[in-house]
Amino acid sequence: MSDNALYVSYNTVHKLVKSLSERLLDSGYDPEVIVAIGSGGFIPARIMKTFINRPIYAVGISYYGVDNKHRDHPTKIQWIDEVKSQLRGKKVLLIDEVDDSRVTLAYCIGELLKYEPEEIAVLVLHNKRKEKDVEFPSEIKRYFSGMETDDVWIKYPWDAVEIEEHTAKEEA
Ligand code: G4P
Ligand code: MG
Repeated sequence: MSDNALYVSYNTVHKLVKSLSERLLDSGYDPEVIVAIGSGGFIPARIMKTFINRPIYAVGISYYGVDNKHRDHPTKIQWIDEVKSQLRGKKVLLIDEVDDSRVTLAYCIGELLKYEPEEIAVLVLHNKRKEKDVEFPSEIKRYFSGMETDDVWIKYPWDAVEIEEHTAKEEA
């Protein structure tokens, strides 16, 4: 770790997802579909597919405007009609990279619950130990985080311009 940020390599992401897939199975939850929250949830969701082999539906939500400032509320930037018909009555695994303020996650869950899935389980690579701005809806009974972290900025490998430097910083 350096720059007071937590550097995370692709290998670490892969291993976190693998161990999460094992905990998911141990818990007895057998999701029928994966919903990935873009863009940070895309790569973790694809890796999860390697372990649980379920179809992935992608939704795009952003809590930031083009000026990189917070909007008043999260906004759908991509939402496929297919999601609606594919979730009804199903066991869903919702994947994102980080549980930070929880605002984006909770908003997304609220939208997906409208489609009346049987259950939504939430899975994130990292959960920041901090006071959350919102709580999950009461329908959320299963929550998996790969790692609990302090309230620091996490640097994911897909944001790196120089991947070797990024990976070396994880080990530093
Ligand atoms: P939450 O519900 O998942 O807690 O997300 P929150 O609204 O608090 O976060 C807003 C955005 O900030 C999200 O990105 C989230 O991924 C990103 N974010 C929060 N903490 C970190 C961090 O430590 N490192 C990185 N790299 N990103 C973080 P987004 O607007 O959904 O965009 P995207 O980056 O996923 O495309
Ligand atoms: Mg995100």
